[in-house]
Amino acid sequence: MGASERQLKARVDELYRRNRQTGTAAWCGADYDFVCPSEGTYPFQWFWDSCFHAIVLTHLDIERAKAEIRSLLLNAQPDGLIPHVTFWQRDRYQEMLATYSIAYRTPYLSDCMQPPLLAEAVAAVVERGGGLGFASEVMPAVRRYYDWLDRVRDPDGDGLIAVLQADETGLDHTPKFDDYLGVSTCGHAELTAAWHRVADPYAEVGRDPARMFALDRFVVEDVMVNTIYAENQRVLGELLSRLGDEGGAAEYRARGDRTAAALLARCFDPARGLFFDLAGLAERRLETATFTCLFPLLLSDLPAEVAAALVRHLEDPAAFAAPYPVPTVAMSEPSFCPTMMPGSLVFRGTTWMNVNWYLARGLRRHGRADIARRIEDRSVELALRAGFREYYNPLTGEGFGAEGFSWSALVLDLVATRPDED
Ligand code: GLC
Repeated sequence: MGASERQLKARVDELYRRNRQTGTAAWCGADYDFVCPSEGTYPFQWFWDSCFHAIVLTHLDIERAKAEIRSLLLNAQPDGLIPHVTFWQRDRYQEMLATYSIAYRTPYLSDCMQPPLLAEAVAAVVERGGGLGFASEVMPAVRRYYDWLDRVRDPDGDGLIAVLQADETGLDHTPKFDDYLGVSTCGHAELTAAWHRVADPYAEVGRDPARMFALDRFVVEDVMVNTIYAENQRVLGELLSRLGDEGGAAEYRARGDRTAAALLARCFDPARGLFFDLAGLAERRLETATFTCLFPLLLSDLPAEVAAALVRHLEDPAAFAAPYPVPTVAMSEPSFCPTMMPGSLVFRGTTWMNVNWYLARGLRRHGRADIARRIEDRSVELALRAGFREYYNPLTGEGFGAEGFSWSALVLDLVATRPDED
C-alpha cells in the first residue's frame, strides 16, 4: 500500500465513523446501523449511496459492511421494492424534509427506486470476507428486488427497465431530461414545478405502477440504470451459482444478457458513437451527451468497435477529457456547467466519484488501463486536496456541495482494487 493510499484510508475511516448512524427506530422497532451520505444535508439511508458505502466498508470493517446492507434490507417491501430512502430518524429532521421533493410510500419510506447495484454490493461483501453465509442470508430479499424490477418496471417486456421520475435515476437534475420535462432556464423553481407535473398525477392514481406508466408522464429507459441492471443481474447469477443454485444462476444470467443486448440494439447510435435513453411510451431518444451515454463500457461483452467509439469521447478534450475527469455532461453541450449551480442542481457537468468508479472499471475491462489510471490518479488527487465533497469542478478540481460526502470515498476502492501493473 502506497503513502497516498494509506492517507486516503485513514481519512475514509474517520469519515465513516463520523457519518455512522446507529439506533432503534421507534416507528418500526428495528435497529439500524448505516453510513449516511452527509450529516449536514443527507442524514437518512439512501439506496444507491448505501450500496457504495457497503463496498467502501469492505476495506475498513466487514461487519459494518454487512450491517449497512442488513439495514437497507430491513425495509424491503412485500412486493419486492427497496425504497430509495429510509427515513430512520425522520422525527429529528422535520425542517430539512420540508425542502425535499419526494414521493412517499409511508412517512418513513420513499416510493421510488434508485440504480440497482445491490447485487454488486453484496458480492463485494461476500468476496472480501463476508462469506457465502451472508449471501444466503440476504438472498431472498435480493432476488425479490430484482424480480420486482423485472415484473413491475419492464412493462413493455424488452429487457430494459423504466424509471417513472427523474430522481429514480439518482441523477436528479441532469440536463438530458430538460427537453422531455419541458424546462429551459433550469432554475430550482422550474424543476420543482416540473416534478409536480409528473408526481401529482401519479398521486391521483394512487401510485399504482401500471397506471403511472399508462399516464406516460415520465417513462425513461435510462442507459446508466440499465447498464447497472444488466451487470447486477449477471453478478446475481454468479452469486447463485456459488450458492449451488444453477437453475437460478442461469435465469439471472440470461436476464442480464437480455438487458445488455437490448441496450445495444435499441439505445446505441452508431453515427454519434453514443448510447441514448429512450423516453415515453413512443421511446424517443434523448440526445444530450452526458456521461451515461458512455456507461455501457462497463459491460465486458460490449463489441470492441462500440467500446472504441465510446472511448473516443473520453479522449476528446472538447467532450469528456477534462483536466479533472470525468465531467458528467460533455463540455461541448450548451448545458454544461462546471461549477455549483444556484439551487444546488446536480449532475449538470461537475465530476462525481461514483461515475469515475464505474467508468474506470469499464475502461479496464476494455483494455484501456491507461485512461483508467489517469481517472483514478486524478480522483485520488481530488479527494486528498479538496476532501470528500459531493462533486468537483472538472476544470479546476474545486470541491462543491455536501461536505464529508460518503460515496466520494469510493476512490479508496478504486485504488485498493486496481492491479499493480497495467
Ligand atoms: C441527491 C442525488 C442522489 C443521492 C442523494 C443522496 O439526491 O442526486 O443520487 O442518492 O442525493 O446522496
